[in-house]
Amino acid sequence: MGGENTQPMFWRPLPTLLLLVITAFTSEGALCPGKCRCNDTTLSATCTSAALEVIPLQLNPEIHHLDLSNNKISNLYYTLSIYENLLTLDLSTNNLSTLGFEKFKSQRNLQVLNISRNNIDKLKKDSFNGLKALVKLDLSFNRLERLHNLTFLELHSLQVIILSGNRITHLERGLLRNTKHLKELMLNNNQLLEIPAAVLSDAIGLQRLALSDNLINSVDEEHMPNLLDLRSLLIDGNIIRDIHHAALTGLPSLERLDLSNNNFTCVPTASLAKLSNLTWLKMSGNFVENIPPVAFRGLFQLKHIHLDHLDLLTRIDVRAFVDNINLERIWLNDNIAVKSIPTRLFHGNPKIVHISMRNNALTTLEASHFPLDQLRLLQLGGNPLDCNCSLLWLWHLAEEQKKISIIQTNHTFEVPLELHIDSYEINCAAPDTLIGKQLAEVSEAEINCSFSWVALTSALISVMFIFLILTGLILWGPLKKARLRGNDRSQRNGALSRGKAETYEPPRIEKCIVSPPVSHHDYRTLSPWEQYGNCMSNMNIYEQLDCHLKDRPHIVYV
Ligand SMILES: *[C@@H]1O[C@H](CO)[C@@H](O)[C@H](O)[C@H]1NC(C)=O
Ligand SMILES: *[C@@H]1O[C@H](CO)[C@@H](O)[C@H](O)[C@H]1NC(C)=O
Ligand SMILES: *[C@@H]1O[C@H](CO)[C@@H](O)[C@H](O)[C@H]1NC(C)=O
Ligand SMILES: *[C@@H]1O[C@H](CO)[C@@H](O)[C@H](O)[C@H]1NC(C)=O
Ligand SMILES: *[C@@H]1O[C@H](CO)[C@@H](O)[C@H](O)[C@H]1NC(C)=O
Ligand SMILES: *[C@@H]1O[C@H](CO)[C@@H](O)[C@H](O)[C@H]1NC(C)=O
Ligand SMILES: *[C@@H]1O[C@H](CO)[C@@H](O)[C@H](O)[C@H]1NC(C)=O
Ligand SMILES: *[C@@H]1O[C@H](CO)[C@@H](O)[C@H](O)[C@H]1NC(C)=O
Repeated sequence: MGGENTQPMFWRPLPTLLLLVITAFTSEGALCPGKCRCNDTTLSATCTSAALEVIPLQLNPEIHHLDLSNNKISNLYYTLSIYENLLTLDLSTNNLSTLGFEKFKSQRNLQVLNISRNNIDKLKKDSFNGLKALVKLDLSFNRLERLHNLTFLELHSLQVIILSGNRITHLERGLLRNTKHLKELMLNNNQLLEIPAAVLSDAIGLQRLALSDNLINSVDEEHMPNLLDLRSLLIDGNIIRDIHHAALTGLPSLERLDLSNNNFTCVPTASLAKLSNLTWLKMSGNFVENIPPVAFRGLFQLKHIHLDHLDLLTRIDVRAFVDNINLERIWLNDNIAVKSIPTRLFHGNPKIVHISMRNNALTTLEASHFPLDQLRLLQLGGNPLDCNCSLLWLWHLAEEQKKISIIQTNHTFEVPLELHIDSYEINCAAPDTLIGKQLAEVSEAEINCSFSWVALTSALISVMFIFLILTGLILWGPLKKARLRGNDRSQRNGALSRGKAETYEPPRIEKCIVSPPVSHHDYRTLSPWEQYGNCMSNMNIYEQLDCHLKDRPHIVYV
């Protein structure tokens, strides 16, 4: 036992019993305690859930990986000095209330130290001395309240510090002065009253910062230091009411921002506008009543936006998302006061593929609300929909989904082939006869437009149109008739006039004329939809779609 001579002071604190144990086994005869699993190839020992009260002494002193999680270890003594080659050490879920003084002094190679889920309430300023190679330190779910600014003094290699789930109210200035490689700092679930700006200003390479579930109530101008590499900032679950308009200017690389579950009463448009690289934004669970025009100004890279659980939200402006030209996915679920949305809300978002508006208070929807030709997912379940003929388009989509394979081979027009709808959760809340029924289960007769004014008008116009043609034919005489026979299109009109309802392609132009006029707005950013091709090519996609989808009831009628 060479260690005995070179480090005599090491043995003194050890209980006599442990001393006896270790002298019984020499280092070459390393043993594996009954409740551990050891592997001399990988140099690892796993002693989880083994009811250990101390760190075992008889393991191979060369081991690299030691997992002691879920035991009852309450004191480290100086046992770790035996295992000088450790790379990872897991002490999570034990009963440590202190780490003592310089207990890791000999862990010069240790890279990952997990002390999560113990009862540590204080760290001495020398607790971590010696851990020069430590990359990842997990101190989550302890009882820490303060951290002395010398705690991490020697941890020059540290990249990740996890302090989640403690009771931290304050971090001492200078805490991160020597951790120049820090990339990730998790401070969520603590009791911070403000963003610890003075401490963070030393962490110039920080990429991920979590401050979720604290008691932060504002983000003032000086609260957010310049963190030029910060990619992800989570400050959800605080009580923030507003962000100073210049507070986020020091975060040019920010890509992900979570502001959900705060006390925002409006979208902090001006502050967010500084984040030109933002791709993911979450603002769910706030007290926003209104999403005004260009609410997410300047966020041209934004791809995903979560705006769920905005209980007070009643109004979404038609131009709300016009700047977000790269928007792909939007979540607007559980906004229980949203009774209607403007048509063409997503007109400025040519890349949008996913729209989720579940559990709102929507009673009716039109095809022109959504760019159906490009969507891949549309979720509308849980809305109190009035299943009248205004929803015929949705009914058709649900039907199309059922027989999607047939349509794929024999498509008469470009239906959204890969569009998935949560049709099994779309139920009717009106009329009385259909309450509680799934829209997809309603029969076409129950939902069609036969007797609505739209159909009546269009039918009248059609009849007049056909009458005019017939009159024309009679007036023009046999010469004209002969010419018509050569003309395919007119032939079909002729067939229709004889009442053949099975004719597959309906006459198109008059149908488009009778679709309700759609008002045009002055868009700030308007990019045209891909041409639909089959209807009138000079109409925009919404009108074309209306036109297609309103074909069917019309065919039935004629
Ligand atoms: C030790 O680990 C190696 C590599 O994972 C494995 O091949 C070997 O079977 C393990 N030995 C024991 C005794 O578990
Ligand atoms: C944890 O350690 C304390 C003393 O620090 C002791 O009183 C307690 O019984 C221990 N708990 C368990 C579960 O071992
Ligand atoms: C530390 O251990 C806890 C509990 O076992 C685990 O949840 C956590 O992921 C571990 N931390 C790291 C950094 O591996
Ligand atoms: C640590 O904090 C003390 C005050 O508590 C301060 O005087 C000292 O300069 C700080 N050390 C560093 C390295 O910032
Ligand atoms: C923004 O993102 C682009 C593409 O990912 C990147 O090239 C650019 O450097 C980023 N800008 C900043 C300021 O990080
Ligand atoms: C923030 O919102 C919570 C939940 O509604 C409320 O209880 C609290 O008073 C609000 N705090 C502030 C500072 O507005
Ligand atoms: C369908 O119901 C909605 C909501 O009740 C109503 O606004 C709409 O006008 C109705 N459509 C028709 C064609 O009756
Ligand atoms: C496609 O349509 C043709 C006639 O237009 C029909 O013969 C064929 O069976 C259809 N295919 C499918 C899969 O329905």
